[in-house]
Amino acid sequence: MTKIKIGIVGSGGMARHHLARFSPMETAEVVAIASRNQRTGTQLAAAHNAVFIPEWHRLVQREDIDGIVICTHNDSHGEIILEALQVDKHVFVEYPFASDVGEGEAALRIAEERGRVLRVSHPEVVSNTHKALKQKIGELGDLLLTSFVRLTPGRGARPEILFNLPVSGTPTHFFIYHIYPIVDFFGGASSVKKSAVYEGLKENGQYDRFVNTLTVEFKRGGIGQWTWAGGVAINASEEHERYVLTEGTISDAGDEWHCTTPAGVTPISIPDSPQLTLQELWLSEIRDAADQPPNLEDARVALEAIRISLASE
Ligand SMILES: NC(=O)c1ccc[n+]([C@@H]2O[C@H](COP(=O)([O-])OP(=O)(O)OC[C@H]3O[C@@H](n4cnc5c(N)ncnc54)[C@H](OP(=O)(O)O)[C@@H]3O)[C@@H](O)[C@H]2O)c1
Repeated sequence: MTKIKIGIVGSGGMARHHLARFSPMETAEVVAIASRNQRTGTQLAAAHNAVFIPEWHRLVQREDIDGIVICTHNDSHGEIILEALQVDKHVFVEYPFASDVGEGEAALRIAEERGRVLRVSHPEVVSNTHKALKQKIGELGDLLLTSFVRLTPGRGARPEILFNLPVSGTPTHFFIYHIYPIVDFFGGASSVKKSAVYEGLKENGQYDRFVNTLTVEFKRGGIGQWTWAGGVAINASEEHERYVLTEGTISDAGDEWHCTTPAGVTPISIPDSPQLTLQELWLSEIRDAADQPPNLEDARVALEAIRISLASE
């Protein structure tokens, strides 16, 4: 089988994460790595026997590459995707895949026109838990309310990047991975309201601590609420999630999910069948794209999630 040739943009945490998965695969070969960071870029390229290219435009234009994996900061994803799709590359991009709705729509349109795979790194598509929850939600009637709360203590490895409005967008944008699954369950929103507090906000858009809340009405009915607080004094990250539907409520309880109905409380069983990795899925979609148009449904859900995260600004 001919190997699918891959180019990676970025040489930070997620680039290393994807490389660790692609490198051992017999069906793929990482040909080149582009990053503006000469030190981490050359190290990573040498470790994986790949060519280092300082400038991502040159990587995207290479004719010996089938697919581009985009692992840069949020502010550059859209631009790199558009250029890659325009020269007929398949794309695998870290979320959020655009920082502008027009950019996201253009990416979907070009991917469709050119029959290219556009996969965003939302893992729900390969998650047994997400599939089991989606099925259970489908059995419990209409949505009344979904609520999600996340408290994050520290500021991560690169706080100047993450807690930075121009580079990463608002917390609703970089926490889009908590909006995406709920949009996959309940569809898009008809209205969005937001409130935000940023402490220590500087002129360059960096800040020390935030509280963001987001409330949406879904087009299909029901309310969604998300709350995020970051840089707060708690020991470890906390998350709480609820889906209140007309026939029952689903709640997270540690590592388990429970469903409460008038008949009582029952655990939701999650099958432990083997899951494809996102990287394996992307490679199989690239192979399939030779014979049939790629399925862009997941990218459409990702764009609906982006509409919510950006509408909240
Ligand atoms: N899927 C997940 O589970 C997950 C988890 C965390 C993050 N993410 C997402 O993954 C992306 C990368 O996060 P990360 O944690 O890997 O960040 P990171 O460690 O800071 O790495 C980002 C890399 O991209 C490079 N870069 C940034 N902008 C660039 C540009 N315009 N042109 C060329 N190179 C550029 C950076 O270079 P410098 O060293 O010069 O800055 C760095 O090498 C973000 O969008 C983030 O939201 C996803």
